[in-house]
Amino acid sequence: MKRILITGGAGFIGSHVVRLFVNKYPDYKIVNLDKLTYAGNLENLRDIENAPNYAFIKADICDGGLMDRIIADENIEGVIHLAAESHVDRSIKSPMDFIHTNIIGTVNLLNAAKKQWQGKNHGRFYHISTDEVYGSLESGFFTEETAYDPRSPYSSSKASSDHLVRAYGHTYKLPVVLTNCSNNYGSYQFPEKLIPLMIHNIQSEKQLPVYGKGENIRDWLWVEDHARAIDMVFHKGKEGETYNIGGNNEWKNLDLVHFLCDLMDKKLGRGKGESRKLISFVTDRAGHDMRYAIDASKIKKEIGWEPSVRFEEGLENTVDWYLKNDAWLEHVTSGAYKEYYDQQYKNR
Ligand code: NAD
Ligand code: TYD
Repeated sequence: MKRILITGGAGFIGSHVVRLFVNKYPDYKIVNLDKLTYAGNLENLRDIENAPNYAFIKADICDGGLMDRIIADENIEGVIHLAAESHVDRSIKSPMDFIHTNIIGTVNLLNAAKKQWQGKNHGRFYHISTDEVYGSLESGFFTEETAYDPRSPYSSSKASSDHLVRAYGHTYKLPVVLTNCSNNYGSYQFPEKLIPLMIHNIQSEKQLPVYGKGENIRDWLWVEDHARAIDMVFHKGKEGETYNIGGNNEWKNLDLVHFLCDLMDKKLGRGKGESRKLISFVTDRAGHDMRYAIDASKIKKEIGWEPSVRFEEGLENTVDWYLKNDAWLEHVTSGAYKEYYDQQYKNR
């Protein structure tokens, strides 16, 4: 399988996956398909955009006919599907965008792959999903056997797409594999999610909105460790299987925000405790899941993957990256860069 379509490759996790594949596999052709929504930015891929084994196509996965044509014209042998609407708060405001992209878009890709690979003995459809499909934990950990119990429009749309991917595997024998991962952090994350938003607001001395009492718990994973897991599962994962991916690294939101404030006080030469004064406890997110935590023993045992970066080290690296990349932040939040690229890459 050398002709790979990566969807959502201009987003946060997708850009790390595209970079890894383009650099590691010079004999593969990597096609990045992305609609370039507010969350997708080609600036995330500046360093590899001229690589001979890389191509970009601006397209919407909700256009089924277009997906059929792209997968056939590019003679795609493997799909790594990351394109999605990904922010829980936005899903609460506008669920329909999540239904279209995450469910209908995924089915369009499944249909296109099914047509392309019928009667051929190759193909792999790798669906990237989230631990949020399992719901909220009081104790213990999510395993691959945990029953689905999604509670936000985002997690429900991802759960629907997971079921459809498995149904295509079961009914049509489409060669599928899935992973469900915990919260990622690192460079190139759009500053609406907790960590980059807090870094950005601490730097610009804006309010730090902590939902509720800040007691919710997330299991954080370095995005490059996730990208490495995706590479390993794509090449070694068993057809029809699901693997959970997590950092074994649970933090309460408020502890995490305190850690970032104290770290950035030092980096920015502020007095001890200065940034913590920016914290503001705001109305809780509707239906806020209390705790996510992953048992990743299956991927460790069967595929040999392990997280490699300690959280404190990864966070410091992430803070340094955001402080050095003001221009990136400015561009992705202003929309000017997107307009420029929209003119460069017209829809096919
Ligand atoms: P992101 O929002 O940063 O990127 C999503 C990308 O998909 C963007 O480049 C966007 O332009 C593209 N996209 C959106 N709608 C599209 C459409 N209709 N057609 C084509 N492209 C479209 O998201 P992310 O955080 O990088 O997440 C990527 C995937 O990983 C998602 O499927 C998400 O559910 C999953 N995931 C994310 C996390 C996390 O912590 N961020 C954790 C587990 C799983
Ligand atoms: P987020 O990064 O949106 O990821 P998810 O909701 O998918 O886990 O949020 C992480 C946690 O941080 C979640 O418990 C909500 C909380 N949060 C805040 O307290 N304030 C914020 O401004 C944001 C964006 C999130």
